[in-house]
Amino acid sequence: MDIKEVLQFADELVFVQTGKHLDDIQDTVIKGVWQGHTYEEIAAQCNRSESHVRDVGYKLWQILSEQLNEDINKRNFRSVLSRLQITSSPVIIQNNNHNFNFYSSYQTKDDDNTIKNDDKKQLFANDLTLSPKITHFYGRETELQTLSHWLINQNNRLISILGLPGIGKTTLVKHFIDLNLQKFDLVIWKSIKLSHSLDNILTEILTFTKSNHSENNKLTQFLNLLNQKRCLIILDDIQEIFILGQFAGQYKPEYKDYKTFFTKIAEIEHQSSLILISQEQCQEMLCLDEELYSVKCLELSGLSNIDIFHKLKLKDEQIWSNLIDLYGGNLVYLKDISNVIKNIFQGSVADFINEGFLLTEDMKFQLDELFNRLSPIEKNIISTIGKFSQPVAREHLKATISLSSTELINGLQSLNRRYLLTTIETEKTLFNLSPIFQEYVKITEADK
Ligand SMILES: Nc1ncnc2c1ncn2[C@@H]1O[C@H](COP(=O)(O)OP(=O)(O)OP(=O)(O)O)[C@@H](O)[C@H]1O
Ligand SMILES: [Mg+2]
Repeated sequence: MDIKEVLQFADELVFVQTGKHLDDIQDTVIKGVWQGHTYEEIAAQCNRSESHVRDVGYKLWQILSEQLNEDINKRNFRSVLSRLQITSSPVIIQNNNHNFNFYSSYQTKDDDNTIKNDDKKQLFANDLTLSPKITHFYGRETELQTLSHWLINQNNRLISILGLPGIGKTTLVKHFIDLNLQKFDLVIWKSIKLSHSLDNILTEILTFTKSNHSENNKLTQFLNLLNQKRCLIILDDIQEIFILGQFAGQYKPEYKDYKTFFTKIAEIEHQSSLILISQEQCQEMLCLDEELYSVKCLELSGLSNIDIFHKLKLKDEQIWSNLIDLYGGNLVYLKDISNVIKNIFQGSVADFINEGFLLTEDMKFQLDELFNRLSPIEKNIISTIGKFSQPVAREHLKATISLSSTELINGLQSLNRRYLLTTIETEKTLFNLSPIFQEYVKITEADK
């Protein structure tokens, strides 16, 4: 076990007990103790008093002792963890280039906090190496409840988390996992950005779980795994397998096998779930009938309550919600803009809003990437809608744009599947762009 694995392991245990990840001091204490340093030395490293560090250490040993059902203290920390590793073989630590999380055999607790001795999980090894570590999490209570219901109560097999770039899809799913890790036998996180082909992903998972597999039975073996254990498999950045410059959710020719894969996961009976995280929706993610199918789809909109404004000590709290609306509740944009307000407007949100709308270079770059994914028809629709100052009905659009009825309807549908349009339901459906896209279209049209 190396120090990275020790920290990951301790972090998971502390999170299970406290709902919080290791903070910097706890991190330093664990590292220091693992490396045989005294509290005095560790205190000097993190610029704290020795008594404070001792206190942090004491609380940590208490948590770890409870979680592992072992009496752990500074002196035996390293030996107990090493012993657990030895006794809980087979332990999977390395696979290809990745280090994987190590979870030793320890007693798990059920919801009412009683230890279930007879229901001990012998060993569960999760691969969350490629997932982000979440240190701050705001809101999303409803979404977390929905996920809990779909995954834990209903055991749905295929769940998509969809929405614009930066809206918080990855963060939400990882936070859900942090809260519910013990409810699954095996949790594996993969990013399509890093291993594109389905074949590679299946090979990595089967090798990690030490499942026997040959070149031609990987899918069957994978389905067996989903049947034998309660697995939660996450595939992030699914939009990477879709074609750029065409309607949303069209598979690149080399990734067509994902289509059959998603359908099979949804149709075949097993006890596991696959979560797809994507900026674009495809046909297989559509939830046609809530009751009949084990397919669900969570479309994320922006956050409405954000703590960073307090942290950055921004002024004019009464109009913070205007700022959040302007930037669609997108934390990536809001963090960026908050820094501008702090540095250039002395923290005054009112002054900033009076100045007009601002797209930073980072935002433009991100929006360029997003708009480069669109088909020519969608670009045409977006720039036409951008010219209206009010939400516009399809009939009105049709009269203005040089597209056939089919092209217009398919284009609108595709933009919906990318979450680029907002709709208002009156007698007719009205289409609109969010303020940030409206501004982006204005700027790019002016640059032409
Ligand atoms: N609920 C939240 N609480 C705290 N931070 C959040 C929350 N949601 C998102 N963030 C922050 O916003 C940023 C973007 O979030 P995230 O990476 O989850 O977006 P995404 O929807 O997965 O984007 P992409 O499609 O580009 O992968 C991250 O830095 C994350 O820390
Ligand atoms: Mg993401």
